[in-house]
Amino acid sequence: MNGVFKFSDQYKQSAPKLYGARMNNAKSVSWESPANIALIKYWGKYENQMPRNPSLSFNLSNSKTITKVIYRIKENSESRIEYFFENKLNESFEAKVKNYFKNVAVYMPFINELDFKVFSSNTFPHSAGIASSASSYSALALCLCSIEQNLFHTLSDEKEFYRKASFLARLGSGSASRSIPGEAVLWGKTSLVNESSDEIAINVGNQAHDIFKLYHDAILVIDSGQKVVSSSGGHALMQNHPFAMARYKQANINLEKLFLALRSGSEKLFAEVVENEAMTLHALLLSSTPALQLMKPNTLVVIDKLIEFRKKHQLHFTFTLDAGPNVHILYPDKIQNKMFYFIKNKLLTCCENSYWIDDRISGSPKQINI
Ligand code: DP6
Repeated sequence: MNGVFKFSDQYKQSAPKLYGARMNNAKSVSWESPANIALIKYWGKYENQMPRNPSLSFNLSNSKTITKVIYRIKENSESRIEYFFENKLNESFEAKVKNYFKNVAVYMPFINELDFKVFSSNTFPHSAGIASSASSYSALALCLCSIEQNLFHTLSDEKEFYRKASFLARLGSGSASRSIPGEAVLWGKTSLVNESSDEIAINVGNQAHDIFKLYHDAILVIDSGQKVVSSSGGHALMQNHPFAMARYKQANINLEKLFLALRSGSEKLFAEVVENEAMTLHALLLSSTPALQLMKPNTLVVIDKLIEFRKKHQLHFTFTLDAGPNVHILYPDKIQNKMFYFIKNKLLTCCENSYWIDDRISGSPKQINI
């Protein structure tokens, strides 16, 4: 594959310029970054978080991670990294962040010259069953890019800034690469979009009809239990999966259909594709070895009720699932009152402690002052 452009090569080549951090006092940077909900699912990867198929997601508005990084020139020969989650020292997350910093120091060697204190919190409770790895790693990656910019002034171009942030976030968690600005975000190489890449995600919001930009995401928390399988463990199940090749082909076909739906504003086609992706993800889990059944009885009850409600009232909305039991209802702004009424009167009995999150899409990462 000689001559093929790679962001990893570019960032490695420019790394020597990112040595020699100079600063007098400790400084800090802070970012908030959204969770995202995949419409075309990323399920199956190569090494280094390279996806087996392109995926596409919407950012959420209210479900986000807020991260502050305090940094200073290191005091001892080893960098010191402390990690506080919700203001409490968290050793298990700290170990992950240390490992992550070690990996990304290849592209940002100044990391080895600094001491860090990281403070992170989520706007959604841990028990909500929303994957927090996307928002967490993207918030952290954005902080690292701001530190690079503060120390070396190498990321003043906004596009280049978010590219590098997406690249670094991917190394923490694949789906985190997609938490960049955009009403719709694509990660993974596809012949459908010129600039697409397996290494970074790109904003394809300009391909989305206005109707989708006002979509809501009602997250019904069916069960807040711990994940049965880690995401990396889940992706590994695709390695010897009998349907793997068919799945990767289907994801590409579904992506093409999704672009048609997004561009034309066809909510019917949108719903068809989004539900097919959600059901396929769970069909893949069920047909893995070992088999994983991650839905709960109430997941299916909710889906049945939604389909019946949609048919009876001739409404356009859809739903999706991640690798867990909770249901995301994606619906247009104009049916908000109907949806609220239906959720409150018919679906909350299926949710754990009647818990749901009223979210909407089109969230975006933001640099903040805290
Ligand atoms: C089902 O991004 O959590 O949510 O790269 O191992 O961290 P890692 O996996 P992760 O996988 C997300 C899987 C998914 C679908 C999706 O978000 O595309």
